[in-house]
Amino acid sequence: MSEVTNEFEMSLETANFLKKQINYIPEYAIVLGSGLGSLVEDIKVEKEIPYKEIPNFPVSTVKGHKGSLIFGELNGKKVLAMNGRFHYYEGYNMKQVTFPERVFWQMGIRKLVVSNASGGVNRNFNIGDVMLIKDHINFFPEHPLRGPNDERFGPRFVNMSEPYSKKMLQVVRSYAAENGIKIKEGTYLGLQGPTFETLAEYTMVRNMGGDAVGMSTVPEVIVARHMDMEVFGISVITDIGTAEFIEEVNHQEVLKAAKAAEPIVRELVGKLVELY
Ligand code: HPA
Repeated sequence: MSEVTNEFEMSLETANFLKKQINYIPEYAIVLGSGLGSLVEDIKVEKEIPYKEIPNFPVSTVKGHKGSLIFGELNGKKVLAMNGRFHYYEGYNMKQVTFPERVFWQMGIRKLVVSNASGGVNRNFNIGDVMLIKDHINFFPEHPLRGPNDERFGPRFVNMSEPYSKKMLQVVRSYAAENGIKIKEGTYLGLQGPTFETLAEYTMVRNMGGDAVGMSTVPEVIVARHMDMEVFGISVITDIGTAEFIEEVNHQEVLKAAKAAEPIVRELVGKLVELY
């Protein structure tokens, strides 16, 4: 998608293309971040479409970049899973990063699940914890809704008092409590990356009210809320960023910790889709 956009028409065109591939409207769109990739194994896949075959989808300049949309059934509900997301740090602009959410809404999907890996700064958090995202702080340098507002999507000034659906949170919270699954809850602060934070920056995140910090999710959720979609967010704490806990964070460690927590994230998201 180009810098100067006709977002509404483009996302409608893409949605129409996708709707022709299936004969139903999925109830949920699920963005599979680190820590949720294997949810695909629980989906009865009906159709998989590589991003490069989808009109208007952002094209990656990165060699070997993969990504696909997966249509199928999860615990009795029709879902569309996004296997691979577009990060701002990769060089996409915010309209590109959030284009998939526009398309989901144009298809008639009204529920969104987002997942990610993050660094914990709350002193009660440990590596491998699963955190339900209750709120977020937007610290990206570019806002996805900057520019002329298209009222067909939603209002100019978006109410953000409930970015993450309280009802969805309650469904998952109750299920976790009833089944002895330990979860954390907190505020996710989004930074552009791609560097991990310095110790001073982790401290800043904590002082600003964040419980965890990461490089995704916030733009997608803002755009979903612009269109009044119901959002559920879940994060795996893959490293701890506090001055007292000087553990070197690297991508390998993040992936390892995300993998370990994956069964829990998978179970919780599966149950949400089933029950709500
Ligand atoms: N910081 C930012 N993004 C992350 C981190 C982190 O510590 N861990 C996983 N994603």
